[in-house]
Amino acid sequence: MNNQPIGVFDSGVGGTSILKELIRLLPNERFIYLADSANAPYGEKSPEEIVRLCKKNTDWLLYKNCKLIVVACNTATTNAISYLRANYNIPFIGIEPAIKPAALKSKTHVVGVLATKGTLSSRLFIQNSEKYTDNTKIVEVVGKGLVEHIESGDFNSNKLKKILKSFLEPLILQKIDYLVLGCSHYPYLLPLLKEVLPSSIAIIDSGEAVAKQTKEVLLKYNILTKTTYLPQVQIVTNSYKTSLFLLAKKLFNDVNVIFNDKF
Ligand code: DGL
Repeated sequence: MNNQPIGVFDSGVGGTSILKELIRLLPNERFIYLADSANAPYGEKSPEEIVRLCKKNTDWLLYKNCKLIVVACNTATTNAISYLRANYNIPFIGIEPAIKPAALKSKTHVVGVLATKGTLSSRLFIQNSEKYTDNTKIVEVVGKGLVEHIESGDFNSNKLKKILKSFLEPLILQKIDYLVLGCSHYPYLLPLLKEVLPSSIAIIDSGEAVAKQTKEVLLKYNILTKTTYLPQVQIVTNSYKTSLFLLAKKLFNDVNVIFNDKF
């Protein structure tokens, strides 16, 4: 089992921000990244539909013999990870908005969370954020339309900057000192976010924590690879999106993106 690949999936390009961290921390593992781009965005879909898509992605990655699956999407994790853990026999690692570190570090006791509607309205997110509301005010904003911009390859247009400003100005007025990026697509907006936010507001995402957690679980189940090959990465998508092709080339040394409409 040790030398089987690790599966990673997202609704599109966003999870590549996690894949980058995984490759950095686990340089000898094989990865299969599934971008369900034909069904992006997940954020406006019903919980039932999100579970159905996660099931479909998982079945395909299991057919590819993956030993562990990283759900590199906050919307998918917060709506479907309990279902996946209850119904499949392999370990799943999920990604959720990093409210805990933000709430623990915040001096103003006001923290902003930018995420999809699907994440913010999920039971898991609501339960987790309630743990911190005694000491911290959590201000939520739905990043409506942001995933569509990123999927289409727009990371820094003036139009996008204006949209971000309109989302974040109310948070700045409420004196947040941490902004939690609750969607794996959003780290690609970092340069623009830094232009829009005052430097006193720190931005946090969960990419590195997910990679660390993945390594811990591989160790726990004794399924770390025994090989010392360079990482082998396969990126598969069911829709041609230039953003994925461009990012993959830039981030992963010219790795090929394979088109496959069978999942
Ligand atoms: N990357 C997904 C997330 O982390 C994007 C969701 C979407 O497709 O709307 O939530």
